[in-house]
Amino acid sequence: MTDKRAIGVFDSGVGGLTVYRALRAALPQEDFVYLGDTARLPYGTKSGETIKHYAAQAAARLREEDVKLLLVACNTASAQALPDLRERHPDIPCLGVVEPGARAAAGSSATGRIVVLATEGTVRSGAYRDAIHRLRPDAQVRGLACNLLVALAEEGWCEGLEAEAIVSRYVRQLGDDPFDTLVLGCTHFPLLAATLRRLLPSSVAVIDSAQTTARAVTAYLAEHDLEQSEKGRSGRNLFLVTDAPERFLLLAQRFLPEIDVNGVELVALRNA
Ligand code: DGL
Repeated sequence: MTDKRAIGVFDSGVGGLTVYRALRAALPQEDFVYLGDTARLPYGTKSGETIKHYAAQAAARLREEDVKLLLVACNTASAQALPDLRERHPDIPCLGVVEPGARAAAGSSATGRIVVLATEGTVRSGAYRDAIHRLRPDAQVRGLACNLLVALAEEGWCEGLEAEAIVSRYVRQLGDDPFDTLVLGCTHFPLLAATLRRLLPSSVAVIDSAQTTARAVTAYLAEHDLEQSEKGRSGRNLFLVTDAPERFLLLAQRFLPEIDVNGVELVALRNA
């Protein structure tokens, strides 16, 4: 069995490319359609109702591309809109990044003391905490909103004095309460992983939800007979944005120079 349809990836903008990069590496034979809602980012500071509305529109647009699976790469949208998307699209799998990240954290932590760094919206939703508690009711989960790290990553300031100063200020906010696992619960944060690593005790495990999500999608496709199984095939990519394709391209090059973002198309989203 082979399913030749593409995988739809949705994010608020360019950050989801960290998830796309992990997916591309894990699934080289698959086609992807990536939709970045660049007209309306950031999502991290908006209300849950607004995020649901935006996510519904984005999902409807990706359905027009006949995708076989919808992956919400944006942590904020996964945290706030995934149940709604599943209700609206019961005929295709809708996966997010929170569940795989939570599963990896629950599995990796010896003490059950887990920190989640994310946007304000993701922390407010409690989605990581709830997902970790479902797997491990004894866990003590703390969320810390780190909105400024989004801008830092987009500026390309992921290493060096400025990055260390800002990241260490957030790390200090965690106080003296010990933890042994930290989840990068935002699309942009894997780019700051090296700086965070330097500022955290070496005993702390850092969970990259982009990597864990790529593994979850790969397993899902295999278990449900949805893989593109043509051997040696190089999958195609389509990048869609809701505003300023040239800025998306520029940021993509700065942010993830190893990714080949060929053409970027401008699209308008309709009410869903
Ligand atoms: N993509 C968002 C997330 O992972 C970060 C950027 C934004 O706030 O839109 O939560």
